[in-house]
Amino acid sequence: MPPTQAPAADSTPNGSTSNGSTPNGASGPARILVVGGGGRENALGWALARCPGVEAVWIAPGNGGTAALEGCQALPIPEQDGEALLEACRQRRVDLVVVGPEAPLAAGLADQLRAGGLAVFGPGADGAQLEASKRWAKELMVEAGIPTARHCPASNREEALELLQRFDRPPVVKADGLAAGKGVTVAADMAEARAAIEEVFAGRFGAAGCSLVLEETLSGPEVSVFGLSDGRDLVLLPTAQDHKRIGEGDTGPNTGGMGAYAPAPLLAGDALEAVRQRVLVPTLAALRQRGIDYRGVIYAGLMLTATGPQVIEFNCRFGDPECETLMPLLGPELAQVLLACARGDLSAAPPLTIQAGCSACVIAAAAGYPGEVRRGDPIRSDLVATDSLQLFHAGSRRDRDGRCLTAGGRVLAVVAQADDFDTAFERAYGGLAQVHFEGITYRRDIGHQVRRPSPEPAA
Ligand code: AMP
Ligand code: GLY
Repeated sequence: MPPTQAPAADSTPNGSTSNGSTPNGASGPARILVVGGGGRENALGWALARCPGVEAVWIAPGNGGTAALEGCQALPIPEQDGEALLEACRQRRVDLVVVGPEAPLAAGLADQLRAGGLAVFGPGADGAQLEASKRWAKELMVEAGIPTARHCPASNREEALELLQRFDRPPVVKADGLAAGKGVTVAADMAEARAAIEEVFAGRFGAAGCSLVLEETLSGPEVSVFGLSDGRDLVLLPTAQDHKRIGEGDTGPNTGGMGAYAPAPLLAGDALEAVRQRVLVPTLAALRQRGIDYRGVIYAGLMLTATGPQVIEFNCRFGDPECETLMPLLGPELAQVLLACARGDLSAAPPLTIQAGCSACVIAAAAGYPGEVRRGDPIRSDLVATDSLQLFHAGSRRDRDGRCLTAGGRVLAVVAQADDFDTAFERAYGGLAQVHFEGITYRRDIGHQVRRPSPEPAA
């Protein structure tokens, strides 16, 4: 799998030069803090630690798999403790902070760290509203002329029930604020839509329950598009497709994501460029118009409808497990690119190399996920990571004796790359067979859209 853009020829084995700058002369961050404790943050830490010139990566708080990643250390500080994170960065002379999850971004962690003088990749609380308020994001989209489903906001139960009557077909009901992926109901009928409205205003989603959006139901395949933004310009990453449902055949309740693959062939070439021009660029412009200097990931969840791509949601961070899927495809310039975004000047970074080929990711979850899950089971892994096979822990922890135990719904991600999706998924599932814990649960059909169906066994 040759990279689409060759690395500079005069690099040392790891690409760095003696003064810590990279072969093209641009200097990158040497000491990086990644904030968060999931598979996404382990994948980010892993990818950044491989970049030339990077000396140390801390992941706070990290998880049971963090210490096993070359160049990464877990730092036991909760992601919402801005004061402690700032102090840890000062002590360690951190020169770039990358914030993984949406909750600390929406709570203003990036603002706090920036005010403390740090370069931070991740939007402030103002920009994070793109994800933290569906209503705010819809208003911005309408103003900027971005293709999205028609909607109406409602601030109380009566208003919402009244508005519901104007819909000919059952709408999608979306609680306004962050609801850990549980605030959206794609109603099958009006009764379900009514029940979802009642649920939102009964406070099921806490702070997310003050208002909601009713939205026209669209149909079509979904694709995730990611841009790395410095507030003005952006670098596009390969597209990815996530598998949200727990069950094979995309059935059963929604989850955070049971697997993913990249790039998604459904959206490529000119069609992807059109999304950059019609969705991402105008969104950044609309943010700027509101005085928002958006430095971080802009993640558009699109539905490819019969009339073209429509934005279903924006997120202010990498998707999980899309991040685990994408990181192995990104080149050694990643640390420089994220630092340049954090400093508001992407032109200071070299172009980001994107490796050709396919990446496949399968999530292993604990029994019971996405409901109440088993915890505390030992995780045993005989998987040997290679250049084309990675294991990223998510819901795991170490006990006092250093044993790795399950500690959450999505326990780990196995990711593999190859020239084609069949080989990539074969490799990922082969890796997964080397990992064991009681109650391990995973879908066997991740990537069914891009894999050749297995031949029927002979009768
Ligand atoms: P969201 O949290 O906004 O991404 O919504 C979660 C999921 O709900 C999406 O991934 C879609 O599968 C579905 N969804 C959201 N909005 C719509 C819509 N307008 N039409 C159909 N499905 C939707
Ligand atoms: N995998 C979907 C998300 O991170 O929102």
